[in-house]
Amino acid sequence: MNFKKTALSLLAAGLLASAPAAMATTFKMALGDAAGGTQWELGQKFKAVFEQRTAGKHSVDLFPNGQLGDEQNTVNNAALGTLDFSVLAINNVTPFSPTVGVLTLPYVIQSADDAKKLTQGEIGQELTENTIRDAGVRIVGWAYSGFRVLTNSKQPVTSLADLKGMVIRVPKNEIMIATYQSWGINPTPMAWSETFTALQQRVVDGQDNPYITVSAMKFNEVQKYITNIRYIFSLEPLIVSESVFQEQKPEIQQAILDAGREATAHSFAYLQATEEQIKKDLAAKGMEISDPANGEQEWIAKATGTVWPQFYDSIGGKDKLDKVLKALGR
Ligand code: MLT
Repeated sequence: MNFKKTALSLLAAGLLASAPAAMATTFKMALGDAAGGTQWELGQKFKAVFEQRTAGKHSVDLFPNGQLGDEQNTVNNAALGTLDFSVLAINNVTPFSPTVGVLTLPYVIQSADDAKKLTQGEIGQELTENTIRDAGVRIVGWAYSGFRVLTNSKQPVTSLADLKGMVIRVPKNEIMIATYQSWGINPTPMAWSETFTALQQRVVDGQDNPYITVSAMKFNEVQKYITNIRYIFSLEPLIVSESVFQEQKPEIQQAILDAGREATAHSFAYLQATEEQIKKDLAAKGMEISDPANGEQEWIAKATGTVWPQFYDSIGGKDKLDKVLKALGR
């Protein structure tokens, strides 16, 4: 057999050229947010490290802005193995693995360092195992987005009395719904992908998300007022389908874990480096920013007093919360 001749004719037919490519894998990563926020930063860093570790043999394509479905749908799709990766807000994982709700109980996380300690320590490891068990997805990285601040298009809000009569969008998350109820209003649960249009069309008056997300999503175009509440520190895990992960060779699994770890460290540094400037930019674009009156005391008292006990069972018992608070030195 004339190998050279055969190779040339295969090449001409496009067969040889496609053979190595068939062995390579391009993974798909869904992002709920638009390009430019912390989800994007985490995804880009993961892609760069992963592709370098796998010597360009495997690659990752990012699909921002909910192109691959609403955040909660991406958990289902990853569980089924029809999607490889997703970066989404932790509150959109909780419905599938309720124990991660301990990270979204109001006022549990009080600083970026608290967030880092919980996600990168023993508790984060335990929650990762729980999401594999409950939801069929593995957390391999974390984006840190900062505290979720309240935005609205109607009026400055500094007290709970100012909230009365407002229609506020929240994710479909029981803990967040209960928190607003403790503050005296019934919020409107709505998918993330519908939120910008609902704000624009004034179907809802406001929502909460971190500064970085408000900016990436251009909410300043449809919202005027910001209140610096600090009830939830937004964590955005990078999840991989557990079935996809298990199909990989050990060295690819290791590359996924390493890239996730490096992307996590990058995300923390990115938040520290950018949040203050993003806040200034939003103010320069016309948003009015206020602090809650009296150090947020009334918001904190209502939320912790009534919401925490309602969710002891779903987070795995009051002991779990005690363990988290102990890990944070409280
Ligand atoms: C939400 O409000 O549903 C999420 O925080 C959106 C996000 O992922 O940024």
